[in-house]
Amino acid sequence: MSDFRWSNPVTVYFGPEQFKELGKVVASYGKRCLMTYGGGSVKRTGLYDKVMGYLKEEDVTVFEKGGVEPNPKISHIREAVAMCKENDIDVLLAVGGGSTIDATKCIAAGACVDFDPWEFIAKHIVPEKALPIVVVLTAAATGSEMNSGGVISNEFTNDKASVRGPVLYPKASFLNPELTYTVPRSQTAAGSFDIMCHILEGWFTTKPPMDMLDEIQKVVIKTVIKYAPVALEKPDDLEARENLMWASSWAMNGFMSSGFGGGGPSNHPMEHQLSAYYDITHGVGLAILFPRWLRYCLNDETLFRYVTYGVDIWGVDPNQDPHDIAEQAIEKTEEFCFKTLGIPSTLTELGINEEHFQEMADKACGPRGAINGFIRLEPKDVVEIYKMCL
Ligand code: NZQ
Ligand code: ZN
Repeated sequence: MSDFRWSNPVTVYFGPEQFKELGKVVASYGKRCLMTYGGGSVKRTGLYDKVMGYLKEEDVTVFEKGGVEPNPKISHIREAVAMCKENDIDVLLAVGGGSTIDATKCIAAGACVDFDPWEFIAKHIVPEKALPIVVVLTAAATGSEMNSGGVISNEFTNDKASVRGPVLYPKASFLNPELTYTVPRSQTAAGSFDIMCHILEGWFTTKPPMDMLDEIQKVVIKTVIKYAPVALEKPDDLEARENLMWASSWAMNGFMSSGFGGGGPSNHPMEHQLSAYYDITHGVGLAILFPRWLRYCLNDETLFRYVTYGVDIWGVDPNQDPHDIAEQAIEKTEEFCFKTLGIPSTLTELGINEEHFQEMADKACGPRGAINGFIRLEPKDVVEIYKMCL
């Protein structure tokens, strides 16, 4: 494994009793708070009133900027940055899923600079300062609640990319699994695959893996395989929601990829282009891409990872030819994504055709001209994988 540094400064408040601390925690960062939220679920579920109640008890003055869309848009962030500056905001409170949290991270950084917040992304500027962020997580998926990245869409240019830096870690994240009972079925499915994919992207490596991390990764992946169907069947199953929520945070807080030389993400850059151009749900794009990417990357050098994946995660019989084990592992993945989770299995079903594949592939490969993940993917490879998804 490689040398690494790891630290994670996010204080997690897990569970309904801990949630009652929200007002005090927000107030500890200041009395002028901008609360961000999405398209209205927080009002429908009653969460908005509850949060407002906690903030009022601590005499926090609340400004609000709702309407964060999935795949959060830069125009909305620009408006929120202006609100922070005009109203002398001390602290940001993100109440929502990954999109709301990501938007809030960009707002937090944007409020501390004089330039346009898109420049963090376009010019790869690492923010040096940000307003403190407190999170109330409402959907288990991205891990944004416990990491320092935010993925932002520029709806004017069809770009989607990250702002990241240590100042963007939330100060505190409230993880109350009960708040996820109302997540729509399709989002529970997509979020669950996102969690799995965050781990699997590192699992598929040609470098020598680290045994301890391998075992932990397997446990977290199996947790999602076990509990996502339970949450789909019974949305208010506390045990399932608790497991998915904590898995979400640990799949993407830097721990799983620490120094074991994982392949690095490949599906994520490819998916971010799909959601940039077509505004689709992130986890849906990942689930469509992932099995095709597995097929594309299979060769004699990579085969060994497919074998442990098939045997240890999907329970495939180890006493078979390794190629047969790999094929069965891919089939089990497809069955889980498209039958168990019920995610659409092709881009065609989402109304996507090849029109933009070449430019999307060029953008996914970035200025280095390739995605250096499990295997090196150049634009022609990415186009091929997109075509396999039609
Ligand atoms: O907007 P509202 O009305 O709140 O509804 C949302 C939205 O429509 C709904 N929802 C969330 N919690 C709910 C709920 N509905 C009812 N009850 C609840 N408790 O779910 C829909 C999707 O929400 P969104 O926040 O978009 O979902 P998710 O958490 O999957 O976030 C996706 C975004 O995060 C980015 C993705 O690219 C995408 O833009 N990612 C961020 C990462 C990070 N910061 O580390 C890593 C990920 O790989 C990912 O790229
Ligand atoms: Zn993801």
